[in-house]
Amino acid sequence: MSDPVRIIEMGPRDGLQNEETAVSVEARIAFIEALVAAGLDTVEVGAFVSPKAIPQMASSDAVLRGVAQKGAEFHVLVPNEKGYDAARAAGAKVVSVFAAASEGFSRANINCTIAESIERFKPVLARAREDGVKVRGYISCVLGCPFDGEIKPKAVADLASTLFDLGCYEISLGDTIGVGTPARAKEMLRAVAANIPAARLAMHFHDTYGQALANLYAGLEEGVRVIDAAAGGLGGCPYAPGATGNVATEDVVYMLEGMGVRTGVDMEKLLAATNAMSGVLGKPPVSRVASALNAKKKRAVS
Ligand code: HMG
Ligand code: MG
Repeated sequence: MSDPVRIIEMGPRDGLQNEETAVSVEARIAFIEALVAAGLDTVEVGAFVSPKAIPQMASSDAVLRGVAQKGAEFHVLVPNEKGYDAARAAGAKVVSVFAAASEGFSRANINCTIAESIERFKPVLARAREDGVKVRGYISCVLGCPFDGEIKPKAVADLASTLFDLGCYEISLGDTIGVGTPARAKEMLRAVAANIPAARLAMHFHDTYGQALANLYAGLEEGVRVIDAAAGGLGGCPYAPGATGNVATEDVVYMLEGMGVRTGVDMEKLLAATNAMSGVLGKPPVSRVASALNAKKKRAVS
């Protein structure tokens, strides 16, 4: 359990994509810079998707260009070749394709069936291979779908194998609506890990029902060592009604450091990044750890 864990910071993408407040390119860049300064060496910074669908991610090209020299690994979402072209033109070296384990969510999120999404990803993966670009693969709704309900572990495992065989270097398993519980998370991860080494899997758990940390712990016990998390617990998906943010990076770092797992993240600097963005958005972070640390600071000065 003490093997290192890699945290992929989601705040600037998954976090901001669902916010009502439009955040300027400058504020997005400042947020990313603050996260990198806190020791988060892998950050998802934007999405090359339709600006009609997700206006919050417009100008992801300017964001990516703005942080290019910051010495961290930056990821961006691309749903198709059009997105790939735009991401590459802005200098992307790592892109993520995103599929869903349920037909209902695939249709709502990317306007196509699961099979059609794979056909859209094939040319992206082929071109990325030629260009030396790494491709990460997401699967949404691995523990439940807002439209189709329960999802069978086999459906997740089959789709994960398809994405892995197409050349995705890592498969990020998304509990998009945060309905999973530890035993079900384990069952799903075991099914996926029957075909793909656990070292190539990541956990992307939203915290809607407050189960994300417990589910992550269950996944750590299964040998998964990559965790997607969002500073302050920001986030959600506009196509997943009622879903709240990713598990908060502060909460993950606190748990891991408490377990003796080094994360390389400086909590004080992370909190500063979260608080600055919370000022921009005009609301406090939902992270329990961030709230507790902010309250402690307040007590110390009063
Ligand atoms: P579509 O309607 O099927 O695509 O949308 P289309 O090819 O028919 O094009 C329709 C319009 O979109 C055209 O513009 C295209 O040019 C444009 P129009 O002629 O109407 O002006 N278009 C694009 N524009 C910019 N960039 C592109 C692009 N492609 C087409 N790449 C599409 C398909 C995927 C584009 C659309 O449904 C879309 O953008 N959806 C947004 C999906 C999204 O970003 N969802 C949130 C992120 S996923 C997530 O949060 C889950 C995750 O966190 C894991 C988890 O938690 O589970 C990853
Ligand atoms: Mg997500």
